[in-house]
Amino acid sequence: MKEIQEQIMRLKKEKNAVIMAHYYVDDAVQEIADYVGDSYYLSDMATKVEAETIVLCGVSFMGESAKILNPGKRVLLPDVTADCPMAHMASVEKVRRVREDYGDDVAVVCYVNSTAALKSVSDVCVTSSNALKVVKALPNPVIYFIPDKHLGSYIAKKLPEKKFIFNDGGCPVHTMIRPEDIHEALKAHPAAKVLVHPECPEAVTELADYAGSTSGIIDYATASDADEFIIATELGVMYELKQKNPDKSFYPASALQICEDMKKITLDKVLSVLNRDDAGLDMTEELMEKAHAPLKRMLELSR
Ligand code: 13P
Ligand code: SF4
Repeated sequence: MKEIQEQIMRLKKEKNAVIMAHYYVDDAVQEIADYVGDSYYLSDMATKVEAETIVLCGVSFMGESAKILNPGKRVLLPDVTADCPMAHMASVEKVRRVREDYGDDVAVVCYVNSTAALKSVSDVCVTSSNALKVVKALPNPVIYFIPDKHLGSYIAKKLPEKKFIFNDGGCPVHTMIRPEDIHEALKAHPAAKVLVHPECPEAVTELADYAGSTSGIIDYATASDADEFIIATELGVMYELKQKNPDKSFYPASALQICEDMKKITLDKVLSVLNRDDAGLDMTEELMEKAHAPLKRMLELSR
């Protein structure tokens, strides 16, 4: 084990901290994490761990969610500038206007890749692994889905009985993946299964053998009899895919599948935040209280 990893392990014990990481962060960070998972798993685990401190290796909305669900714990972000651009792609004002237009008929469904302010005006949160289950369980006939239009329309296609209002937001990384990329990759690997994240545009998810969250993609590839897979999501998932399936082959759909914000999290920054002990989160008590209800409702509806 490298010296820096040993230092992190020692400090983690001293400070009664656990390290949680998303599948998109660097391999070296996933390697030292106590818990690695998709966005749903990280929010759910944050409510279950006993340690006093959680070091959240991911983008800031993940740290915010962990803190909102655990106001009593210290949540540390190794780099406060690691921020998901999509988290800001909806407006509180527009949510108010939609509520005025549709009254009690509408449920505002907020993908967790969103700011705490957007969560605080929403009825329920979802992640890509539970969105279908959660939205299906809602009694409202109208769904205003924020901020991701691609995940929103993916779910809408499966629930034709509901009217969906979409918001013009999307993940810059997944939006860059094109159907041509999948066709090219299939030309090179015709026997491969195509595994796609639903943050991709509809023209890409339509070509998928499986579409789902990062955990869903990893589970599908692990359970599959196929030997080759084309992967249309951020390349950080390759680490766990290869760990679990050393004899299978994984090919990126595009070389552009890299989230610069997730890659800001390094071992040096994990060590540094454990030494500093400063949280890096800036939310008022009132905001946290308001954002808590939709996150809690998501956990209840998806269990
Ligand atoms: P999941 O890990 O929940 O699939 O989320 C993907 C993502 O973009 C997180 O930022
Ligand atoms: Fe946000 Fe996309 Fe990066 Fe996920 S991959 S954190 S949605 S920019």
